Amino acid sequence: MIKFDFTNMLDTAVKNGIDKKDLLSSEVYSAYDLVQSNRGKGMQEWMDLPENQDQVVQDILDTAREVQSNFDYFVVLGIGGSALGSIAVFNALCHLYHNDLPKVARGNAPKFYVLDNADPERMRALFDCIDLKKTMFNCITKSGATSETMSQYLIVTNLLKQCLGEDYNKHIIATTSANKGNLIKLAREHSYKTFYIPEGVGGRFSVFSPVGLLPFAVLNIDIISLLKGASEMNKICSSRNLLTNPALMSAVIQKKAIDKGCNISVLMPYADKLKYIADWFCQLWAESIGKAVDKSGKVVNVGQTPVKSLGVTDQHSQVQLYAEGPYDKVVVFLECGFDTVYKIPEEKTEFDDVNFLCGQTLNQLMDSEMRATRYALTKANRLNYTITMPCVNAYYLGQLMQMFMLQTAYMGAIYNIDTYNQPGVEGGKNATYALFGRSGYQELAKELSVIPDEQFII
Ligand code: PA5
Repeated sequence: MIKFDFTNMLDTAVKNGIDKKDLLSSEVYSAYDLVQSNRGKGMQEWMDLPENQDQVVQDILDTAREVQSNFDYFVVLGIGGSALGSIAVFNALCHLYHNDLPKVARGNAPKFYVLDNADPERMRALFDCIDLKKTMFNCITKSGATSETMSQYLIVTNLLKQCLGEDYNKHIIATTSANKGNLIKLAREHSYKTFYIPEGVGGRFSVFSPVGLLPFAVLNIDIISLLKGASEMNKICSSRNLLTNPALMSAVIQKKAIDKGCNISVLMPYADKLKYIADWFCQLWAESIGKAVDKSGKVVNVGQTPVKSLGVTDQHSQVQLYAEGPYDKVVVFLECGFDTVYKIPEEKTEFDDVNFLCGQTLNQLMDSEMRATRYALTKANRLNYTITMPCVNAYYLGQLMQMFMLQTAYMGAIYNIDTYNQPGVEGGKNATYALFGRSGYQELAKELSVIPDEQFII
């Protein structure tokens, strides 16, 4: 099992730490009851994904085999929750230089790209690396209305048609809502192979739906073990006992830390493979918990700013701030076992201050640096806790990601906010529509064209 060590969050370890007695309060149990009683309902359908997808998993595995036999490149078109899970799991579970390996060494998996921006340079660069005739595009958008993804879709289909004629539709798989949006209409009209995102599964909670599972299966990632790990975490986190429920404990302990002024949470994996898990978590935590109003409409402006950091790399940049800057952070260390042991040669050099490394391993160096940083931060009275994965495989990654999603659900319930909406994102989206002259947004377009009387431009 994944282990959680909260010792350094307590007042017995750090000044201004949390008093254990304060962890058990009625708000914790109301939050627990709210999340558990809504399991599988409304926007909490994601909680059941590890257990209820047998049929779709079979379809995904069959489709993945076909993709592997017929294509050399697999490109995801999507953004936010439709992309970050794929990037995170791909980096965690595939070879770190997957695309540089020959196809046999990739286990027949295609090269893999995720276009999660509207950056024109990146779009152009992709077409320099792939052969359209050998590329499968997986267009992922639940709403079917996201400007970035739909722009990419239009560019790609236009090129595919020019290159392949009528058969272009065999190069597109649509992953979208079964009932709403433009992509489902296009998919039906052009007979694309389609996978569905259930209505009660929001983008940032969709990694265990076909949004993530199809790309993972194409990459030979063991999706059955991934779901098993997630399901195991569901079981563990359905305990009403705070001391045996890591998701509930993580939410409560972060809430108590926020009450003490820790408005920033740093997730610091000590493994390159886990670097993008921090990216995925940042979206989950920021977009779900950062809210202006609670469910009763009261203005609350809650949230905790997530920051991604990488051990040991960021010990040489951010850790100075974490150790000596404001007391406004919780540092979450994410450590794991490695499959590889890399030895530093035994032979001594002429330099005494380098010789202590000789005969040790890079693994010992990573481990010691993590423990040393944790010790230094604790000594400096900085709140921190540690999550330990025995190793990075599909099963433990499934556990970890489900734990983070459950933690987010519990945190939203503690704050009594809508964890699953993102009204703050809509403002920017609408302004973009207005700037593009989309009909229905004329008023906003006028407002945007007004130049303020006083400007302050240097
Ligand atoms: O978490 C979310 O809901 C968002 O990040 C969405 O995933 C993102 O905006 C993309 O939306 P869609 O899948 O509708 O294109």
